[in-house]
Amino acid sequence: MKGLVLSGGKGTRLRPITYTSAKQLVPVANKPVLFRVIEAIRDAGISDIGIVIGDTGDEIRAAVGTGRQWGVRITYIPQDAPLGLAHAVKISQEFIGDERFVMFLGDNCIQGGISPLIEQFGKSDYNAQIVLKKVADPRSFGVAELDDDGRIARLVEKPREPRSDLALVGIYMFDHHIFEAVNSIKPSPRGELEITDAIQWLVHTGRTVFPYLHEGWWIDTGKKDDMLEANRLILEEMPAANFGYVDRNSQVIGKVIIEAGAEVINSTIRGPAIIGEHTRILNSYIGPFTSIYHHCLVEESEIEHSIVLEHSSIRSLPHRLEDSLIGRNVEVARSPLKPKAYRLLLGDNSTVGML
Ligand code: DAU
Repeated sequence: MKGLVLSGGKGTRLRPITYTSAKQLVPVANKPVLFRVIEAIRDAGISDIGIVIGDTGDEIRAAVGTGRQWGVRITYIPQDAPLGLAHAVKISQEFIGDERFVMFLGDNCIQGGISPLIEQFGKSDYNAQIVLKKVADPRSFGVAELDDDGRIARLVEKPREPRSDLALVGIYMFDHHIFEAVNSIKPSPRGELEITDAIQWLVHTGRTVFPYLHEGWWIDTGKKDDMLEANRLILEEMPAANFGYVDRNSQVIGKVIIEAGAEVINSTIRGPAIIGEHTRILNSYIGPFTSIYHHCLVEESEIEHSIVLEHSSIRSLPHRLEDSLIGRNVEVARSPLKPKAYRLLLGDNSTVGML
């Protein structure tokens, strides 16, 4: 079996972070979502992986490289424009050949990996298998309806009035019939070749498409609150570890990971939390569900339930920072300048909540 990861697209819902970088490279619990996807595929025993890339392709190539660090072989498949998930499959035909494959959206996080599903699909003669998850509000996903035998009857992309609570998780298993499907369908009203339409085509033409009901958690990390939720869920599952330095005046409570070269001085860290490589925490409080990535500085400040990306500094804040996603090379600090005022340099589509 081969793996196909989709890492093109625009990432409009994570702007301004995604003006300058790929959404799949935003870290949760200090590891980019895309790296977690590659590891899940590798752990299911697949070592030949294609990655579909778009405008942010150079950044993804620089971060992932040949795949050697995971013991896999990566082939990059450039997509000229984000013309849809089924379009991404279409341009990957040469890479996939006649093999069965798993397609994994590069912004999806799933609990427990994909080994059980790959094993089930590998043993079966299904033409396709899709992963479903019961969700409270399925309107922003593909939605599946099952027939009386438990097979897929109908799929609708982002319906306004969903007819079931079964959302399509961004993990799909196919055999070569999917290429006939993606070459037969027409673009949807939003101008994309939809994978839901291609799977619906398989159902119509009598192919066997079965669901796999996922019981654990699953997050599509498209938006800030989803990133924070994925961060919370992953941090809760990680064991404590200390590869850095914690001085005697600091308190580290609960599940806290301190990565190599990190320093915690006169501070309290209450887990679950992770402090990245070469990050310094000085006279501060880091609360639960916080991930501070590498080469950051937090000084005289309190942070909780937040993600801070690399090379950023948070200094002398008069109030606690919560529910925040802070980008790369960002400086947040109290200023001594008079008159007292907020002085901001914010990118387009930034969001700031003030007291
Ligand atoms: O996350 C699950 C959902 O993913 C499913 O429930 C939907 O049925 C499916 O259409 C998809 O919806 P999204 O709106 O979340 O898809 P998004 O545009 O965010 O793209 C998903 C990934 O695929 C993302 O990593 C970008 C990449 N992509 C997307 C498009 C449209 C490509 O590589 N090429 C593309 O042309």
